[in-house]
Order: sequence, then structure tokens, then C-alpha cells
Amino acid sequence: MKEDLKKKFRELFGKDPEYSFFCPGRVNLIGEHIDYNGGKVMPCAISLGTYLVVAKNADKLFRFRCMNFPETADLHLQSSYSKTGKEWFNYPLGVINEFLKDGHTISGLDVLYYGNLPIGAGLSSSASIEVLTAYALKIIYGINISNTDIALLGKRVENEFIGVNSGIMDQFAVAMGKEHKAILLNCDSLDYEYLPFNTGDYILAIINSNKQRTLADSKYNERFAECGKALKLLKKELSAENLCDIDTRAFQDSRHLINDPVLEKRALHVVSENERVKEAKEVLSAGNLKRFGELMYASHQSLKELYEVSGKELDTIVEFCTTYGDCIGARMTGAGFGGCAIALVKKDKFDDFARQLMTYYTVKIGYEPGVFASAIGDGVREVKA
Ligand code: GLA
Repeated sequence: MKEDLKKKFRELFGKDPEYSFFCPGRVNLIGEHIDYNGGKVMPCAISLGTYLVVAKNADKLFRFRCMNFPETADLHLQSSYSKTGKEWFNYPLGVINEFLKDGHTISGLDVLYYGNLPIGAGLSSSASIEVLTAYALKIIYGINISNTDIALLGKRVENEFIGVNSGIMDQFAVAMGKEHKAILLNCDSLDYEYLPFNTGDYILAIINSNKQRTLADSKYNERFAECGKALKLLKKELSAENLCDIDTRAFQDSRHLINDPVLEKRALHVVSENERVKEAKEVLSAGNLKRFGELMYASHQSLKELYEVSGKELDTIVEFCTTYGDCIGARMTGAGFGGCAIALVKKDKFDDFARQLMTYYTVKIGYEPGVFASAIGDGVREVKA
């Protein structure tokens, strides 16, 4: 891939790139829609992601190109930028804007991106391009910034520049991922640990529903606001900074304060999902993959019934998984409303699983899903020759 990308760079800019970088996407094993509620999540970086080749220019221009999109932009160096339209280059532009705001000196760059992550599929293509760009700026300009701070910067871009109230999970996962490891991240304190993700005879399958969505026009911000309202009502009796500071027992005692069935369902998902993550950590360390799979199913059920962020495409995938004997767990991953699901499937049954699922899904939904096995890989990095 790198050679194709370099060749394209030469065609576009008439010179060689000076640097190459890669940043993965992520899947979240469990802990959905709780990062912005101060909960614990368990994502891991995957082997698919976004590549960037780049060279400085003396023209004080940012020339943005991407092999996945036809839109280009040539923007003069300014002291700050704001979002223009919905084009892909708003993500790297937002990152440049953050570095400029922080007082770093950045000048002209010719950049070419290529991603092999399905876009708008819940595998964090946007966090991937944000963290990739920030990491590249750090290396190119010798800026002293940690990967955790890069993740936080990416989140600021998402929240303030793009306008999605997302949490820290995606940026953190793609910045800090480690091969064969899941990250257990406390989204309130940002404390984290790496957990060995030993799946034994099983593999982690990713199933793309091929139903696209963008968070900017999904109900993501609506859910964020609903959680804020529920917390405010619960705070009349409970002392909590975040919904995830409340355990299920305290929640049962105080849920009457919410007095709104929809908000109550949202809060119940958050509180119970946070507890599932804690149990998931225990059963993973004990090597009890079967129970881990059950927690995945329970998480999906909660996202479907209580948080209402699934949809018929993702539900159809998980419904098939529950009937397939050699699949021990499945759930939607990421924001939902379409995008991807993950499943734990017996290694030697993967091909059969994929075939049967393709037929089942296509008959019910009318078009094919994508089914692939995923490796758990490292986070953002420079790719040397
Ligand atoms: C998106 C957001 C994350 C997280 C997930 C849901 O991926 O970017 O911050 O909220 O949805 O868990």
C-alpha cells in the first residue's frame, strides 16, 4: 500500500513524500455509549486504518488530497480555521487548528491520505484521521506531546470543530492500541491497563451492516443530552459527577427521581453497561470466554431496548449469531444506528459462519453485509522505509 500511495503522491505533487504514517481504526469489545458518562470501556485497535504520506512545502499552503474522496482543498496558512461544509478534510484541518491555537508553529504541507477502513461504519475512521494527523504534526515539527494528549486533542476537534459530543474512547484506542491487547480505559480518570485478549479457539469477526451513518446527523448528540438530563435529576439525591459513578443498587433506589420513562431507560443502560464492563474484565482474566460472550449479547440487548441505538440491520446480524452454535457472543460496536457488529466465532467455522450470515442477512435486509476476521494491532505510528 505504501508504494501505491507514494506513487500517487509523486503524480499529484511532482516530488517524493518525506514521511509516512499509519493509524488504525478500533472495535469496542464492550462498554458502549458510556465513555461520555465517565464509564469504563474496553476497545482495541485493529489492523485496518488510515495511511498518510506527507512532505513540507515552502508555499504556506495545506494541500489536502485523499485517495478515498474526490474533494481536495488548497488552504493558505491562517492563524485559525473553522469547519467548511461536510468534507473529509475538516478532520485534519480541525487538528491543525488545535495545534495553531496551542501556539505551535506549523507551515505548508502536501498531504495524501488513504484509508482501508469502511467509512461511517463505526470503526472510528474519523478518530483515525484525527490522531494520524496529530501524530504526523508531532513528528514533523518535533512537538512534545504525549499520545494521551493527542487523543484528547482529537476529542476536542470532534467536539468543538466537527460538532459531535463524542467521548474519548475512539481517539484513545487508536492512539494507544497494542497488538493482541484490549485496553481497559476509565474514561473519567483516563487510567488504563492492557488486558491480554486471548480468544483461544475463537476469532473476533467484524460484520459490517453496510448501513452507513454519520454521527453528525445521527441521534448521537440527542443521547448525550438525555444522559445529562437524567444525571441532573438523579443528583437531587445522589452525589455523582457522572452517570457511571452510580451503581445499579443506588440507581434502583433513586430511579423514581427521573420521572420520565425514556430518560430512565437511557440511564439504566449506562449504569448496567458499566457493570458489565467490570464483570467482563474479571471473566476475561479468568479465561471464561463463554461468559464474556454472554455479556456481549446482554450489552447488545440493552443498546437495542434501552438505549435504542441499534436498528434492524445490526439486530439481524446479532439475531443470526444467537442461532449459530459456534458463535458465543455478538453485539453492535461503536455508536450504532448502522455500522458494524462484532462476534466471537469458532476459528474453524468462520467460513461457514460468514457464508450463512451473508445469506440470512441478504434475504432479510436486501443487500450483503461485509464479514471479515480482524487482528488486534498497535496504535498510531510512523512507517519507516
Ligand atoms: C462513537 C464515539 C465514542 C463512543 C461510541 C459509543 O464511536 O465517538 O466516543 O461514545 O460512539 O460507545
